[in-house]
Amino acid sequence: MKIAVVTGASSGMGRDFVYAVDKEFELDEIWVVARRKERLEELAGSGKCRAKIRPVTLDLSKEESYREYKALLEAEKPEVDVLVNAAGYGLFGTFTEMDVEDQLGIVDVNDKALTAFCGYSLPYMKEGSKIINMGSNSSWQPVPYIAVYAASKAYVLSFSRALGRELKTRGIHVMCVCPGWIKTEFMDRAVHDNTIKYYDRWYTSEQVVEKAMKDLKKKKKVSILGFPVRSQVRLVKLMPTDFVMNTWCRQQGKK
Ligand SMILES: NC(=O)c1ccc[n+]([C@@H]2O[C@H](COP(=O)([O-])OP(=O)(O)OC[C@H]3O[C@@H](n4cnc5c(N)ncnc54)[C@H](OP(=O)(O)O)[C@@H]3O)[C@@H](O)[C@H]2O)c1
Repeated sequence: MKIAVVTGASSGMGRDFVYAVDKEFELDEIWVVARRKERLEELAGSGKCRAKIRPVTLDLSKEESYREYKALLEAEKPEVDVLVNAAGYGLFGTFTEMDVEDQLGIVDVNDKALTAFCGYSLPYMKEGSKIINMGSNSSWQPVPYIAVYAASKAYVLSFSRALGRELKTRGIHVMCVCPGWIKTEFMDRAVHDNTIKYYDRWYTSEQVVEKAMKDLKKKKKVSILGFPVRSQVRLVKLMPTDFVMNTWCRQQGKK
């Protein structure tokens, strides 16, 4: 049984990746992972996909969920052709004013779960299999007032690149997607006050996923949508880190 696994499939880019991998690849099943069971069941019953949609309801902030996923793989023994790690969240605000547990949850979902899903899926992957990990524009720089989220996405980029290098000999491709601002439910969860005031440019989830699928075909290691975002990444690599952070803080009206 040839499958794709998509985490964060209940909304936003994860949901759009489900449609995209279904269109692009011949799959028997797509395992869709998130907490909101009703969303996953609605997707399964929508008839929008060619492959059978299998809801896998898991809370990825909990370590038991990784073991449940591992057990499911052991029971079903599928070939995992595509893994998309899109589950994630962020919280915008001053680090010391936010709940520590909530911030630790960001690391659990964005990094620990992503690492576990790669690790447990890889024994079931073959030459030609693909891993897509959701990084961010914030993967490239420290971002005050989004400190934990940005650090978690720096991990995703670094891990994806190194893992991709290790997997070269097995013919398994790893790509990290690093989008700018996207209007999804992510913002509803992340924004609680006006700490972050300035958003330079918005893209849509569909645009990011369409570009990512094109880049996957070209075997790119990093997918970045939009000339302004790509230019920013290039500049950030050249500028001193303090200059980059000061510029961001000025944009947000911070000292
Ligand atoms: N929106 C942006 O501006 C932006 C920019 C760059 C990168 N990203 C990244 O892109 C990815 C997708 O985000 P999005 O914008 O599409 O946001 P979204 O619409 O909020 O989707 C996030 C997904 O993650 C899942 N998720 C969150 N916490 C979870 C948990 N504890 N256990 C299991 N699943 C969980 C959510 O499902 P449930 O709530 O049903 O569990 C949802 O399906 C994320 O990694 C995000 O960090 C977003």
